[in-house]
Amino acid sequence: MSESLPSRHDAEEASIEAPDVATPSQPASAPVPANPLASRSIRSFVLREGRITPAQAQALDALWPRYGLGSGDSRPGNALPEIDAPALFGRVAPLAVEIGFGSGDHLAECAASRRDTDFIGIEVHRPGVGRLLQRAQQLGLDNLRVACADAVEVLRAALPAGSVDEVMIFFPDPWPKKRHHKRRLIQTDFARLIARVLRPGGRLRLATDWAEYASHMREVLDPLAEFENLAGAQGYMQRPDDRPTTRFEARGLRLGHAVFDLEYRRR
Ligand SMILES: C[S@@+](CC[C@H](N)C(=O)[O-])C[C@H]1O[C@@H](n2cnc3c(N)ncnc32)[C@H](O)[C@@H]1O
Repeated sequence: MSESLPSRHDAEEASIEAPDVATPSQPASAPVPANPLASRSIRSFVLREGRITPAQAQALDALWPRYGLGSGDSRPGNALPEIDAPALFGRVAPLAVEIGFGSGDHLAECAASRRDTDFIGIEVHRPGVGRLLQRAQQLGLDNLRVACADAVEVLRAALPAGSVDEVMIFFPDPWPKKRHHKRRLIQTDFARLIARVLRPGGRLRLATDWAEYASHMREVLDPLAEFENLAGAQGYMQRPDDRPTTRFEARGLRLGHAVFDLEYRRR
């Protein structure tokens, strides 16, 4: 595995209770829900610094002021201030958010090819964040900002309700062991946080190479009134031609896994 590639978590012990987040009936304009950190101890990630290259460390130091949101400290309790995208980017443009971007190659490619859209990446793995900052500078990206933070916190409190046009979550950790399923990012409470930040008509795009997680995603999302599965009863979309291949997708393909794409519209 590359030094900047985060590991997939399948062996950690789950230790706490499920997040206590937004309620199902919450309208897009509702105030942010109460801080769930007090009761939230099950996380979708395990914070490991891993190996960080000198270039990634230097990028974090030098480029965080340009691209970073908040302190860059993803430990619990270090919440971001509210994100005002028009003020941040100096324009009013569609806003896309990628959660768990890993090494960030996919996000950098999207931001480079869609200059009319603004992008926010959320990732807890600092080597990946450093790598993305390097790419952002190389590509001269002005339409990208990065949060090194727990996506639960960013969606709950930092992104204003109805402010996002597109949320992308590609190849999230599948947490394959049954006792770890509660660590999966795609859960009902998290889906409702996504619904909170998406504008009506906004899109949630997902992909996984883990067939059982694909079914789990549908079991969570299909019944929610806030979302419409754009593939209808068939459930899964054709792989979009314009979706750049991610690192974990490439790895799944090498292992012979099928890839499942899902797309939901915020009602
Ligand atoms: C399996 S990797 C996939 C990375 C990338 N999307 C890809 O396809 O190559 C999942 C990533 O999600 C990140 N992650 C998991 N839970 C997260 C959370 N709550 N907030 C931010 N990032 C998270 C992990 O650190 C990891 O980098």
